[in-house]
Amino acid sequence: MNAAEIEAERKFVAYTANHPHIERAYRTALDAIRGANHSPQVVIIAGPTGVGKTRLAKSLYRQLREDYETESVSSPEQIPVLFGNAVATLGASFSWKDFITRLLTRTNEPLTDKKLAIAGQQNLFADLPLARFKENSTTDALRIALENCLRERKVRTLIIDEAHHMLMVKNKSDRSTLEFQFEAIKSLALETQTTIVLIGTYRLLDIRDLSGQLIRRSEIIHFPRYDARIQNQRKQFSVVLKQFLAALPISHPFLVNRDLDHFYNKCCGEVGILKDWLVRALNRYYQSEKRPAFDHAFIDGYALANKALRTIATEALLGEEKLADISEDELRKLYMEGIPEIPDGTQNAKGKRPPPGRRKPNRDPVGASNA
Ligand SMILES: Nc1ncnc2c1ncn2[C@@H]1O[C@H](COP(=O)(O)OP(=O)(O)O)[C@@H](O)[C@H]1O
Ligand SMILES: [Mg+2]
Repeated sequence: MNAAEIEAERKFVAYTANHPHIERAYRTALDAIRGANHSPQVVIIAGPTGVGKTRLAKSLYRQLREDYETESVSSPEQIPVLFGNAVATLGASFSWKDFITRLLTRTNEPLTDKKLAIAGQQNLFADLPLARFKENSTTDALRIALENCLRERKVRTLIIDEAHHMLMVKNKSDRSTLEFQFEAIKSLALETQTTIVLIGTYRLLDIRDLSGQLIRRSEIIHFPRYDARIQNQRKQFSVVLKQFLAALPISHPFLVNRDLDHFYNKCCGEVGILKDWLVRALNRYYQSEKRPAFDHAFIDGYALANKALRTIATEALLGEEKLADISEDELRKLYMEGIPEIPDGTQNAKGKRPPPGRRKPNRDPVGASNA
C-alpha cells in the first residue's frame, strides 16, 4: 500500500453517509437529552447490531460537548458530557466495579486512584503504578465515588455505549437482578441530576418488559435498519448505497446500484454492516499484489457469511416486532373484552411467569365474592 492508497482508505473509512434513519434517531435523541436536562432521566436508544449506533453515539457526544461549551469555559473543572462503554465481561455478569473504574479513570478524577482498589483488576490500569491500588475496595465505595464525580464535575449527560451489556446477568430469568441493574442506573440519574443515555441492541428492551413502573422517566428511541418490505425504505437504502459506491476511491464499473438486492441481502439493510464490508474489501484490494477487478466476485469474499446474517436479521426482526405499536383496534378490544384467556399448553401452563400486568388465570376462585 502506498501513501496515496493509505490516505484514500482513511478517507473512505471516515466518510459518513447521511441517511434518514440515523438523522431521525439523532434529532430525536438530541431533543430528548436537551429536554431531559431540566428533569434528568434515562434515554434509551435501541437498534440492531451494525446499524450505526456507535457512530450515532459519537455524533451525539460531539454535539453535546459543543452545546455545553459555554458552561465549560466558565468552569474549567466541569466535564459536561461523559462517554463510557459497558464492556462485556466474558461469561460473567456485568461488572459495575469495572465499569465505574473505567469511567472514573477517564475523567482523571483525582480521587480515583485511591478508590481503585480492586484486586486482580490492576491490569486494566497499566498506566497507573500498582502501589496506588488498595485491597478491599467495594463496589459501593466506587459507586459513591462515581456519584461524587458526576456531581462535582457537573456532568450533565452520561452516554453509555453497548449498554445492553449492563443487563447481562448470570441468570437471565432472574428478574430481580435485571430490575436491580436498571434501578441502579435510574437512581444514579436521579441522585446526581445527570441524564443517562443508554445505547445498545434490542436486548435493552428487556428493561421495558420488566414493568411499566421501571420505564417511567425513561424514553425509548428506535434506530432501525432499512426494511426491504417497505417500499420507501428500500428506496432510502438504495440512496445510501449510491453514496457509498460514489465515495469508493477506486473504479468499480461492475458494482452498480441496480445490484441493490444483493447488497441488501449481504447487509440486512444495515448501513454499518454495509460500510464495514466495503472497508474490508477496499483494504484487501489495496493489499493484494495483483489488483483484481473490484466486482462482486471479489467483494463477496469479505461479506459476512449468510448464516451470520441470518442471526443478525432474526435478532433485528424480533426487536422490531417488540417495538412495533399495536393497533387502536387491538387496544379497543382489550378495553371491551379484557385480557384474553390463556389457553392450556402455553408458556404459563409450563409454570413460567405470565407477562407483566397479566394475572394468572387461576388466581381467583370462580364465583368468589367478598360477601
Ligand atoms: N452513516 C454512516 N456513514 C458511514 N459509516 C457509517 C455510518 N454508520 C455506521 N458507519 C460505520 O459502520 C461501522 C459499524 O457502525 P457502528 O456504529 O459501529 O454500528 P453499531 O454500533 O450499531 O454496531 C463503523 O465503522 C461505522 O463507522
Ligand atoms: Mg456499537
